[in-house]
Amino acid sequence: MTNQSISQDALDTLISLAQLDIDDSHAYRQAIEHVKEEPIRSRLNEFRADHERHIQTLSQMIRKYGGEPPEYSLDFKGYFLTGYTALRGITGTEGALKAMHTNETMTVSRYDAAVHQEMPEDAHALISRNLADERLHLAYITTALDDRLWEK
Ligand SMILES: [Fe+2]
Repeated sequence: MTNQSISQDALDTLISLAQLDIDDSHAYRQAIEHVKEEPIRSRLNEFRADHERHIQTLSQMIRKYGGEPPEYSLDFKGYFLTGYTALRGITGTEGALKAMHTNETMTVSRYDAAVHQEMPEDAHALISRNLADERLHLAYITTALDDRLWEK
């Protein structure tokens, strides 16, 4: 396996992960609007920033291997491309966290599948680092829901 070549399957996976991170970033933007508690907002803002970093680093990796990264527009048009749970109609912190729990569960499972795929070494390392971030996001949201953190 060389660092200079990539299969079409592996490149498609990088592109679909970038799209997933775009959707995650938009979903966090929506979710955060429903959260009043500052400590929770600030964690969710950190997670959104992680997703934006993933979008940038995945896009660089996709270009390096000759692919075209998905478009990332900040003006969110109200739909998701990766089968997201819509945040439309949710209210309050609990609803926002539940929606993001569903979304982050899917994100972890998509990254976990990608980390087992054949991939150039640098792409594999990037996916592993991102997966570690995603596991932290999901762990925080799971604990926040279990502890009903917004009531404290
Ligand atoms: Fe995440």
